[in-house]
Order: sequence, then structure tokens, then C-alpha cells
Amino acid sequence: MKPMNEGPLDLQGDPVELLKQWVEFAKTSGAPEPTAMTLATASTAGVPSARIVLFKGTSVGSLGREGIEFYTNYESAKSQQLTANPVAALVFHWNTLRRQLRVEGGIEKVSAEESNAYFQSRARESRIGAWSSPQSRYLNSRDELVSKVEATKKRFEGAEIPCPPFWGGWRLTPTRFEFWEERAHRLHERYEIKFENGIWVQRRQAP
Ligand SMILES: Cc1cc2nc3c(=O)[nH]c(=O)nc-3n(C[C@H](O)[C@H](O)[C@H](O)COP(=O)(O)O)c2cc1C
Repeated sequence: MKPMNEGPLDLQGDPVELLKQWVEFAKTSGAPEPTAMTLATASTAGVPSARIVLFKGTSVGSLGREGIEFYTNYESAKSQQLTANPVAALVFHWNTLRRQLRVEGGIEKVSAEESNAYFQSRARESRIGAWSSPQSRYLNSRDELVSKVEATKKRFEGAEIPCPPFWGGWRLTPTRFEFWEERAHRLHERYEIKFENGIWVQRRQAP
């Protein structure tokens, strides 16, 4: 049987566009959880923490460059770290495609309008969930969570559900990418694409 990936990896153009192409390819080729990415944050003391969030598209941030969005609770452990230390790293791993994509950069909140627009696109149950879960806090029982959900349902019965003030998007404006694709005998294809003096610079890296 032939190996799945062969020959040199051909990466042309803007790395954010390449990221979007890789996510799209993962979606259309049936890779499981094609938009899942590990988000690594760190406390101001440098203690790291990582968890999975979902890629929700790109938008232009305060630096005038396109960044990568995900949505979460602004009072969660991750958001507290991002507020105190606004840098992060992301890792996509598409196991079935033998691909890994790493991104590093600065972090900022998306606008309240953008968060609200995305929030309104979610299923009503998910909107109720966002209001009901004090993400990362300790709970005494599952019942405690269930009763919060019931209280939220009552509160918004027959009404629109607005975006909670404690919920929304973060945008990572990349400064460094690494595109990795498996090759035989661990001689993988690996490229760094780094933002240097206003331009993207691409370099091959040893696997
Ligand atoms: C496949 C998958 C997708 C997830 N997507 C999100 C997401 O988009 N946003 C989010 O806040 N948590 C998401 N989670 C849950 C997080 O991994 C994490 O448990 C949660 O955000 C709390 O993290 P924190 O306490 O470090 O803030 C996802 C988990 C999995 C396994």
C-alpha cells in the first residue's frame, strides 16, 4: 500500500488562507472533529494549561491582520489566563490525514457585536447552556447544573436569549505557524511560517 502523503509539501501564499484550506480539507475528507484544536495558555507565572476548543473562523483584529476565533466563557480558567497573559498557542491534529498544524500569537477579545452574532447562530439549548454553566467553577452535584438550566429556561421562557456578558469570542492573531505532514520513516515535511518585519517568512524545519 502506498503511504497517504508523498512528495514535497507545497505551501503557497498567506498562512491564514492555508490554515482555512487545511480545515476545509479536514471537513470534506471526513476527518473526525475537523475543527477541534488544542488551546494552550499560561499563567503570568508561566504555568501552562491546555484544552480543546473549536475553530470558529477568522476575522481581522486590532492589528489589521486576520486572526483565528474560538468562543468560550470569559470567566473560565482559560479566559482568566488569557486576560492576565494575552498570548496563546493552538494545535490542530488531523490523525486520519497525518497532519498537524501549530499556531502561536497574541490574543484579544472579539467585539461584543461579533460575539452576539455568533451566539444567536447557536441552537437555543446551547444558548441556555452558556447562561447556565459557570464554566471552570466547582459544582456540588450534576443536579446543581440541571437546576441552573431549569432556572435559565424559566427566565427566558418565550423570549429571545441575549448573549451573556460573560461569554464570547477570542481572536488569536498569529505570529508563527508550523505546518507538518507525515512522511515515511519519520522524515516528515515540516515548515515554519513566521511573521517577521511585516512579512511572512517560510523556512523548512528538520522533522
Ligand atoms: C471536542 C471538544 C470541543 C470543545 N469545544 C469547546 C469550545 O469551543 N469552547 C469551550 O469553551 N470549551 C470547549 N470544550 C471544552 C474545553 O475543552 C474545556 O473543558 C472547557 O472550555 C473548560 O476549560 P478551562 O477550565 O481551561 O477554561 C471542548 C471540548 C472538546 C473535547
